[in-house]
Amino acid sequence: MTALPAARHSVVKGWGGYLPADIVSNDALAKRVDTSDEWIASRTGIRQRHIAAENERTSDLATEAAKKALAQAGLKAEDLDMIVVATTTPDHTFPATATQVQAKLGNTTGFAFDVQAVCTGFVYALSVADNFIKSGQVKTALVIGAETFTRILDWQDRTTCVLFGDGAGAVILQAEEGAPDKAKPGVLSTHLHSDGRFKDALFVSGGAGSNGQVGVVRMNGQEVFRHAVQKLADVVEEALAANGLTGKDIDWLVPHQANQRIIDGMAKKLGLPGERVVSTVARHANTSAASIPLALAEAASDGRIKPGQLVLLEAIGGGLTWGASVIRW
Ligand code: ACO
Repeated sequence: MTALPAARHSVVKGWGGYLPADIVSNDALAKRVDTSDEWIASRTGIRQRHIAAENERTSDLATEAAKKALAQAGLKAEDLDMIVVATTTPDHTFPATATQVQAKLGNTTGFAFDVQAVCTGFVYALSVADNFIKSGQVKTALVIGAETFTRILDWQDRTTCVLFGDGAGAVILQAEEGAPDKAKPGVLSTHLHSDGRFKDALFVSGGAGSNGQVGVVRMNGQEVFRHAVQKLADVVEEALAANGLTGKDIDWLVPHQANQRIIDGMAKKLGLPGERVVSTVARHANTSAASIPLALAEAASDGRIKPGQLVLLEAIGGGLTWGASVIRW
């Protein structure tokens, strides 16, 4: 009888974030569209966003974040078996942005591909990499969320253009022996959902396979808000229950950064005080797939998230897609 393959789990070994240099405040935006710092900040918590330079591509942002994650993990590009980039704003329709990150890092031995789940993209990419590791197919995976989201905005539409920004964040996962164990560091579980019936709540008005245009973001903000509150609450409960945890066990909530009101609502549901929630939305705005890994990188680098602590990720985005993950750091 052939022996069953040994169980494995993935452990976070490195992290890094990158934000473009150009910062645009709400006041600066108010000179371009009919809005105000007061309106944007009171509805969303956003005060500013970073915007990529004209010659900066999503793969450039991703590569900068990846370099920091590699350095932090003490690894080299050639150590990577797999590169997954979650993005809605790829450099090109093809090839995958991940392949360009691979080339820019100087890796030729691994494989690279993109994952598309809009603002839930990082949780999806993390889940994909975690499962490749658990299956034994890869040992070391680079997982990136990267966006030049401001390039798909309609700058005449004040209901959407004030909400988003550009950036990238990355983590490195590595295989360790044994099944996930909630007492030990590692990705404990990932939980993914989608429901394509809600496409019209949040979509882009173009595509290579429809009108051959890139298109711009269209959103029914109130509908997305309603879905966000319910679906995030459900998936967080699912993630906690799967691990025999309650909200009180969580050391850090690292949510998708779309709106401070949604973040506060989730923290309240979990019974977590604001001091245990990582919030970057005021400074980064909504960077879609990049928002969670940017927040993770910031809080792990400044010493808020400490080894051994329990971290809960959650996100919702176009599709609709939504998901969560529990990680022992
Ligand atoms: N500046 C000034 N006024 C504005 C702006 C703006 N930027 N945008 C809209 N308004 C006006 C509207 O025209 C409307 O005016 P009216 O009453 O005269 O018609 C008024 O403000 C209220 O508009 P609402 O859409 O009702 O504003 P609401 O309080 O719902 O806030 C928001 C809008 C912030 C988008 C909210 O619905 C929201 O946060 N939704 C969640 C969606 C989200 O976060 N999306 C991000 C992408 S998806 C994701 O990442 C999950």
